Amino acid sequence: MQALKLVPTILYFDTVAAFHAEYPMGERDLLVTSKGLYESYIKPIGVRIPVIYPKRYGEGEPTDAMIDAIVREAGAYDYDRIIALGGGTILDICKVLALDVPEKSEDLYTGVAAPVKVKKLVCIPTTCGTGSEVTNVAMAELTRFHIKKGIAVDETFADLAVLIPETMERLPFRVFVTSSIDALIHAVESYLSPKATPFTELFSLEAIRLIMKGYKAIVTGGEEKRFAYLKDFVIASNYAGIAFGNAGCAAVHALSYSIGGAFHVPHGEANYQFFTAVMKKYAAKAPDGKIRELTEILRAILDLDADAVQLAVYDALDTFLGKLIEKKPLKDFGMTEAQIETFTAQTVGNQQRLLVNNYVSLDDVELREIFEELF
Ligand SMILES: [Fe+2]
Repeated sequence: MQALKLVPTILYFDTVAAFHAEYPMGERDLLVTSKGLYESYIKPIGVRIPVIYPKRYGEGEPTDAMIDAIVREAGAYDYDRIIALGGGTILDICKVLALDVPEKSEDLYTGVAAPVKVKKLVCIPTTCGTGSEVTNVAMAELTRFHIKKGIAVDETFADLAVLIPETMERLPFRVFVTSSIDALIHAVESYLSPKATPFTELFSLEAIRLIMKGYKAIVTGGEEKRFAYLKDFVIASNYAGIAFGNAGCAAVHALSYSIGGAFHVPHGEANYQFFTAVMKKYAAKAPDGKIRELTEILRAILDLDADAVQLAVYDALDTFLGKLIEKKPLKDFGMTEAQIETFTAQTVGNQQRLLVNNYVSLDDVELREIFEELF
C-alpha cells in the first residue's frame, strides 16, 4: 500500500522578492498570471520575463478553448520553464501548458493524446484553497461536450510548489473564505477517506487545526484578522492538498459539482452548501467509525459540551462557518425541484471517482435525500 506520494519540491518564502533572490526568474521563463498580480508582485522587482494573462481568453474556471488560445500565444516565446502565479484556474491551465499540447488540448482530456511533459513547471498559488500546487489534477471544461474533465497523471505534477503568503494579501475576504473552506473540506474528506493512511492523516489533521484556529480568530476579531494568519492558511491549504492528492475527496465534492456546473457557484461556496449535510449523513449511518474521532476534534475546537451528540457538533460547525459564509437553500442558486432528480442521477453517474472515497457508501436514495434536505 502506498502511504504517501509527494512529487513537487515545496519552497516557502514570505515575499515574492525573497523567492526571486534565491530562485531567480528571467527571460527563459514564461509567467502566466493576472495583470493585478503582475503589477503588485512582479513589476516591483524589475525582472524581465514574458507574461501571458489567461483572462484575455475567458473568465472563471479553465476551458479547453482558453488553453488552446494560450498555447497559441505561448508559441511566440522561447522558454524552458513555466511560472504559474495565480489561483486554481491558472495552476490547472499551466499543468497542461507544460505538456506537449496537441492542436486541440481536448485530446489530452479525452485520452486521444498521451501526456508528455516538455517544460519545467513552478506553481505559486495565490488563493489558500485548491492545493493544486501539490496535486496532479488539472481540471477543465470541455466546451464541445459541456462537461468538466480532469487529467490526473504524473506528467501534470509541478516541479516546484512555492508558498508565498504575501501573494494572498490582495484576496477579497469572500474569496479568502471560499478558497480556505475548500481546503478545510479537502482535509476532512481525505481524513475520512478509506484511502487515508497514517501519513495523510497527519496532513489532514494539522490542516483542520490551522484553518479552524484562523477561523476562530476571524469570527471573534473580524475579517481583518485574516492577515495575521495568512501563513497558517497557505501552509494548511498545502497540507490539505497533499492529503487529498493521496487519499482523495468524496461526496461533498461529488455533490457540489451539480450546482457548481449548472449555476457557476464558486467551488468552495458550492462545497460548503453540502459539507455538514454529508457529515451528518455519515454520522447517522456509521456513528462509531472514524467520524467519531473527527467529531471529537471538532467538539474540542468549537468548545462544545462533552455530552453534545455527534449531530449537534455538525450543527454547531454549520453555525460557526455560517458566520464566515452564508448557506442558502439550493433553490436560491437557481435549482428547480425537478433538478433534485437530475442532479442525483448526474452525481451517481459522473462522480464515482469521488464517491468511492466516501467514509461510508451513500446510494442514490441517500444522495437524493441530501438534495431534498438542502433544496
Ligand atoms: Fe476542492
